[in-house]
Amino acid sequence: MAAHPVLWPLSRLAHRGGAVVRVPGVGVIVNDALIAHDVLTRDDAFRKQGPGGIAEIMTQAFGPSALANMDGDPHRTLRKRLGPLASAEQAEQWLAASRAPLDGAVQQLASGEVVDVARMARALSGRLTLTLMGVAPTDGATNDADALAVHALGERIASALRISRLPARQLERVRADLDQLLAFAQDAFASQSLPPTSLVARLRAMGCDADETRGILSIFFVAGALTLGVALPRLVALLVDSGQLALVHADPALAVRAVDEGLRYTCPVPLTVRLAAHGGALGGVSVRAGERVVVLTSNLARDPQLFTDPSRFDITRRHDPRARYLWYGAGPHFCLGFTLAQRALQEAVALLAAQVPTLRIVKREASRGVLLPAWRTLLVTRT
Ligand code: HEM
Repeated sequence: MAAHPVLWPLSRLAHRGGAVVRVPGVGVIVNDALIAHDVLTRDDAFRKQGPGGIAEIMTQAFGPSALANMDGDPHRTLRKRLGPLASAEQAEQWLAASRAPLDGAVQQLASGEVVDVARMARALSGRLTLTLMGVAPTDGATNDADALAVHALGERIASALRISRLPARQLERVRADLDQLLAFAQDAFASQSLPPTSLVARLRAMGCDADETRGILSIFFVAGALTLGVALPRLVALLVDSGQLALVHADPALAVRAVDEGLRYTCPVPLTVRLAAHGGALGGVSVRAGERVVVLTSNLARDPQLFTDPSRFDITRRHDPRARYLWYGAGPHFCLGFTLAQRALQEAVALLAAQVPTLRIVKREASRGVLLPAWRTLLVTRT
């Protein structure tokens, strides 16, 4: 509600309309998990590019090679080249290089201090971005100023993204922010001693050209590190509010299910958009060629076909295999950072549950005017 005071109630209303609903001025809304899966996997019939989609704005801001704004063969070819970036080994390396804010926060909590988990997650996300760029923070391991500055830039860029073309003034601002973000990487680009595990070095080794490098870095910042930064505090707040962190303490294997259920419940990326390549029907609703199809992930994740009593947050719930991590998308555009995000969130939950299983929230404040719903402040301490 704080992030999208108009869109959120409208999406809840659309949910009551059935599996697929046409909303004048918006397009065809998909609330049904199985139909949504079909839309996302049939990328020949439901495309990213075209007027009224989010790809248009991404291309304006990030250039043509930002993955999430590509279709068909060019997209598949680039994804295939980037395949090694999605490996578990790569995720471990990036996480190990960025996790200092998480470890520091858990230590502080263990010694009885109050910690802002939202700030910690922003610092973690910012450090991840710096790691991807191959930049060592100039301010050492303990000061998060660079990481927070990088995260704030990413947040501003993401918040400008909407489903209509950006006016020239706003586009200029987004490009300037992006240039500022990429400037952090400038030395790294030029350096002969670029850490070989950084994304920039990997892209260079894969022979990516300047357009591809800019596009891929941009989408990694905006769809990637930023998403992780908003997801973690929401997950922690849910676990604390529901008292279920103690369940993970009693059975550490539950950390994995806690993350899956937390992401189902919060859906950090609440929707995704496609454009119908040709006319047809979806769930009994006709769809015109070129029409916008909005996959409302936050509704799919509460689809009673797949989740009994979907409004209950229950980390012991076994997810229906047909859900297939729908909150990370599906098909050719399925989240490229899936392994990294899962590892980072599972590690955070496991650490908190092991070391400080009884937490209480001292103060919370939601972010306003942001694309991805988030906690601005989440002060937590040990009970
Ligand atoms: C909890 C955390 C995350 C969630 C919920 C999430 C969710 C998503 C979703 C729903 C999509 C697909 C959007 C669509 O189909 O239009 C996506 C795509 C993507 N994600 Fe993630 N993401 C997360 C973390 C990350 C991380 C940590 C990275 C990398 C650092 C990342 C990188 C990407 C990229 C590059 C794409 C574009 C893939 C393509 O279009 O081919 N994501 N993500």
